[in-house]
Amino acid sequence: MSVTVRVPMNIALVKYWGKRDEKLILPLNDSISLTVDELCAETSVELVKQDDHTVSINGKEVDLESNKRYRTVFNEALRFQRKRAHEKENGTSNNNIGLKFKVTSTTNFPVAAGLASSAAGFAAISMAIQILIGLDETQANKVARIGSGSACRSMFGGLVQWKSGIKDDGTDCFAIKVNEGWNTLRCLIFVFDGEEKKVGSTEGMRRSSQTSDLLKYRIEHLVDKRIAKIAEAYEKRDFDEFAKVIMSDSNQFHAICLDTSPPIRYLSDASWKLIEVVEKFNENGKRKAAYTFDAGPNACVILEDQNVQDFLRFATSQIVVPIDDLNKISTSITQTEQ
Ligand code: DP6
Repeated sequence: MSVTVRVPMNIALVKYWGKRDEKLILPLNDSISLTVDELCAETSVELVKQDDHTVSINGKEVDLESNKRYRTVFNEALRFQRKRAHEKENGTSNNNIGLKFKVTSTTNFPVAAGLASSAAGFAAISMAIQILIGLDETQANKVARIGSGSACRSMFGGLVQWKSGIKDDGTDCFAIKVNEGWNTLRCLIFVFDGEEKKVGSTEGMRRSSQTSDLLKYRIEHLVDKRIAKIAEAYEKRDFDEFAKVIMSDSNQFHAICLDTSPPIRYLSDASWKLIEVVEKFNENGKRKAAYTFDAGPNACVILEDQNVQDFLRFATSQIVVPIDDLNKISTSITQTEQ
């Protein structure tokens, strides 16, 4: 049997940056995200008779020796399956022994360019495996998380919070849907660079948690307040406050990267130009657009539907490069559970 799912990426509004356990991928702080429709990983998973697990992404075979997380994900999923078979059948073995996962995935956005592609990818693998071998929601969430932390947020639509938890075994670490239904929210993605980032998130956050005092300050004093503000602004449809918190957290995340030793620079000149454009667009009155950047130069601009055309016109008049060259993708925030 083969299972195919389409799972969207998510964009963090209050970022996850730093792990309290690298093996189990337990974060140092809670984070909150919006699941973005249309930017998806479409993934098929089968259990087949072959020597080893195989993963193909956008037609390219993944080397499972250098990308160890896939094997961890498959082993954990199979462990859950064995556990269930053991509980159900009192020790009798399940039928899938000797079978290996064959994963085929395509994404409709650049992989590893700071656009949360690994989030959509591992969430899709985990959801397909969940259906294929019958995992429960908590197990599937863990399988996604140990593939890539932010993936556990892509398992739901709308506004999603990933709880860091405090337990060493990670049983209190999972993602939950906080809210949904702000149907007018839109997200514009500006792809300035589709290349792989120089410092991957895993290495970047390891460096920051070891060296940045600002990271510690943010976690102790700011993250929980910001998450509460985001949830409240979403509930009240208060875009001005929503945008303020999103931009503060994005800017502080990149400040932490600079506060890291050696420092990490993800934003490019084009990213800075976009920041200036959004700040200018928001001048004189309530904020109507919010930028946020993950571990890369590409921008995600969040705004309400009624402001999309105005913003694009304004951005075109401000940015010297024709807007078509920016390879923008307009997309909506998904509200539905996958
Ligand atoms: C900046 O989830 O890619 O996008 O858990 O090591 O796979 P690993 O990291 P990853 O990190 C995402 C970092 C971020 C912020 C966020 O999505 O919250």
